[in-house]
This record gives sequence, C-alpha cells and structure tokens, in this order.
Amino acid sequence: MSDNWWRDAVIYQVYPRSFADANGDGMGDLAGVRSRIGYLADLGVDALWLSPFYASPQHDAGYDVSDYRAIDPRFGTLDDFDAMLAEAHGAGIRIIVDLVPNHSSSEHEWFKAALASGPGSNERARYHFRDVDPARPEVPPNNWQSIFGGPAWTKTPDGKQWYLHLFDSSQPDLNWDNPEVHAEFESILRFWLDRGVDGFRIDVAHGMVKADGLPDTGGDGSIEMIGTTQAPFFDQDGVHEIYRRWRPVIEEYEGDRIFVAEAWTDSAERRALYLRPDELHQAFNFDLVLAPFAAADFRKAIDAEIANNAGVGAPCTWVLSNHDVQRHVTRYGDGELGLTRARGATQLLMALPGVVYVYQGEELGLGEVLDLPDEVREDPTFHRTGGEQIGRDGCRVPLPWKRDGLSLGFGEGGSWLPQPEDWSDKSVEAEDGEAGSTLEFYRTAIALRGENKATVLTWLEDPAEDTLAFDNGAVVNVTNFGDEPVSLAAFEGKEILLTSTDLQEGDLPAGSTIWFKR
Ligand code: NOJ
Repeated sequence: MSDNWWRDAVIYQVYPRSFADANGDGMGDLAGVRSRIGYLADLGVDALWLSPFYASPQHDAGYDVSDYRAIDPRFGTLDDFDAMLAEAHGAGIRIIVDLVPNHSSSEHEWFKAALASGPGSNERARYHFRDVDPARPEVPPNNWQSIFGGPAWTKTPDGKQWYLHLFDSSQPDLNWDNPEVHAEFESILRFWLDRGVDGFRIDVAHGMVKADGLPDTGGDGSIEMIGTTQAPFFDQDGVHEIYRRWRPVIEEYEGDRIFVAEAWTDSAERRALYLRPDELHQAFNFDLVLAPFAAADFRKAIDAEIANNAGVGAPCTWVLSNHDVQRHVTRYGDGELGLTRARGATQLLMALPGVVYVYQGEELGLGEVLDLPDEVREDPTFHRTGGEQIGRDGCRVPLPWKRDGLSLGFGEGGSWLPQPEDWSDKSVEAEDGEAGSTLEFYRTAIALRGENKATVLTWLEDPAEDTLAFDNGAVVNVTNFGDEPVSLAAFEGKEILLTSTDLQEGDLPAGSTIWFKR
C-alpha cells in the first residue's frame, strides 16, 4: 500500500561524520545519529538521508566506497546501523541511504583485482581502462578533466594503461556497459532494502553512462560538479535504462520506498526525464542553490520545476543547502543579513508544494566556516587544485550541541574540523526553547507546514517590487527579497501564522517571509 509520504515530506540530511560522535574519536558515527533521533523527531522531519557510512579509505569523505555492504569502523557496525534504523522507525522517521554507483574506491576488491589482472581481462572490463599510446605516452585517451581538478585519467602502476576517474584518482569510474556492474548494484540495492531502508539517494545519478567512444568534451575539458552543463559523461540518454531496471526492484518491497537523484542537468526539462513514472521518485532541484536571493530568479526556478514535474507526475524537490555547497546563510550575505534572508528563503520553501530537504545545521542558522586552516582541510578539491579552489570543508564542520566543552557537545574527543567559537550561541542547547531562535523557527515552520498542506501554487499580485506572493491552497506566503520593509496593508485582517523575522511596525522587513492563514 502506498501512502505517498515522499510527495510532501521534509527530509533531513545527516552528514554522519559531522553530526554526533558517540565513541569520542572526533568523527561522527551511527550510534551518534541514533542518540539524536529524539531531537530529529522534535524537529518534525519525516525522513533522514544519510551521506555514506560504508567502508571507505575516506579520500572523498566516504564517497569512495571500498565495500558497499559494510560499515566503516569509524562509523560503527552493521548492528549499529540496524539499531539506528529501528530507533528511527520507532519514532516514525524513515531512512534513506546514499548509493554511489558511478565509481568505487580504488581500494574496492574489484579495482584491486583489475590492477592485478592486467589489460584485456574481465576484471579490467568493470572499469574504463585504455592503453597508453607508446607514441604519446603522456597524453591521456581524451581531454576530460577531473571535477576535483587535474586530468580525469591516471596511469596504472605499471604505466601500461590509463583508468578513468571523473572525481579523485582514488575513485575509478565503473563501466555501466558491463552486465556484471548492473548485477552487482542490483544485489547491493537488495542488501539494503532487505535491511529495511526506505530509499536511496543516488550519487552522480546523471553520470554513470558515458558517450560511445569517450569523445573529447568542449573547451579544455574542465567541468564543474556544481552547475548546469552538458558533457559526454553527464546526462546521457542511456542512463535512463538503468533506472528502468531499478524501479521494479524497489517496487517489489513493501512500504513506499524511494529513489532520489543527484542529477545536474541543463534544464528542468532534462531533470524531469529522471522522474518519469518508471524511473526515480525525486530529483533535487539545484536551481535555488544556484539562484541569487532575488524574486525573479526564485519565481523562474519555481515555475520551471512545477511545470516540468507536473508533466511526469513527480513532486518538486526543494533544496537550499547540502554538503557540497556553501551554506545559504553565507551565500545570502554577511552576518545578520545572511541569516535573515536564509530564514526568509527557508520559510518560502516550506510553503511550496512538494518535498523540502534540510541540511544538518541549517536549523541552527549555521553559516559556512570560511577560515579553516589549510592543514585541516580534507576535501580533495582543495588538494587537487593546489588550494586554488577552497573546497567544501566549510559546510561540513561538526554540529554544536552544547554551549560549552570540547567540541561543543559533538563528542568527547574533539572534532575532525575545528568549530568557530561563536557556535556556542548557535548550539542546540542555546537555541532550544529560546523564543525567536532559528531552531524554534524551523520547528514551528515544519509543524505549520504539516498542518497546512500545500496543494497548488497560485501567484498573487506582489505587494511591492522584488517580493513574491502566492497562495498554496492553505497559506498565503509573502516574501520580501528587497532591501526595504514592505507594507502588508493588502492582507489586512488575515490571520498571521508565522513570520521569519519580527514585523517592523506592521511591515514585512527586508529578506523576510510571512504566512497568513488563507
Ligand atoms: C556528489 C557528492 O555529493 C559529493 O560529495 C561527492 O564528492 C561526489 N558526488 C563524488 O561522489
């Protein structure tokens, strides 16, 4: 029986290494997640998406998996996973795990066997190997560049072949033309479905299939992960065949389980193709991650998502932050301005029809940590570009749970990235029960969203320039993207449900959102 929970859920992204550390080794773990299920239930979220916790050498924070069926000892054991899942389910919270099918770790058994077996072997056919040309031994097979910087090809230790890695050299791309790769991932899906997970977030869901012959890409071959782009290794039509094979697998299991795609595409039209009824359930909309805080940009992205997803019967899937992008508090401006706008944008998101993802810590109003010392940075982007690109560590700093103590309550053993001192005032302890805190604001917004479900989106006449007003069937939302307060006279007499910032003499302050009962 389907209850369609995933069509209007609030889903919270847990980045396990930075969420809560139960064993005091300075890195978060599954027992830590388990210990905070009560906090997440109070927040009111419907499901968690957990970034990878599988066995991994951690060259890309776990997105380099060496065993897809094992838990990395840093994060615990399979028993810890089962206990965490049971605790979450007991609290009515579903669990979505991350699946990384585009590449494995170079320490995966398959890749070790490929290196041991040599050119032409079945073992090498699971990845993309190409001979080194003796006439041009330093020229890779094509001009593709790694998304983390530098060439996308590395030579085997014997110097005879190259292998492809769209990301770090420790993340060789799997060859999805090989039936063995399909069979293995179907088995991995079943392994986790049998354990009771409620779904999968698919990493680089647009990347597994490469254009025939691996042709050069335009320009110098470099490419951004964050952004919309076309390339012979992204958003190839053949990738949809994979999802048509996976959908019947997940449908075999009871309980309305889902796939959510990380698919960077050129347009909302291309993204909707992943959401056809025989493919995936959700695909993150990154257009609002890329959009400036401006009414016209938000409206354009919202209209495109609603129109295209309606065409395939899929829910819109709204996101402002995740573990790969600068936190939206910081994107929107310095200090109070950024926080005010972030709360305004979040409240608007919570009024949209569809699904909202919340990245851990945004409910505390955390900003990007911009001043991490170079020596603590772990993101391969930083190291592969010689520091030219700062990388993503700044949005991955462990959460502050308490005002005081080593690592502000994250764990008993410090924290793998240092936390800023002013996070004491942004800790859960400091914000819990504190009227007006960002934590209380998120709790209220999520609860009200659940009681006032959006069914449609009808744009209303905007009360001023650079504002957006809409009716979602339950609530009238007004967001002020401008720099001056906006009069709410047009809504006189309506019951106010929530404001992201206190009104200023009855006006809606710059950067803020208000909800009226319809
Ligand atoms: C997208 C993930 O979100 C990111 O963190 C990772 O580095 C790449 N995919 C490679 O797996």
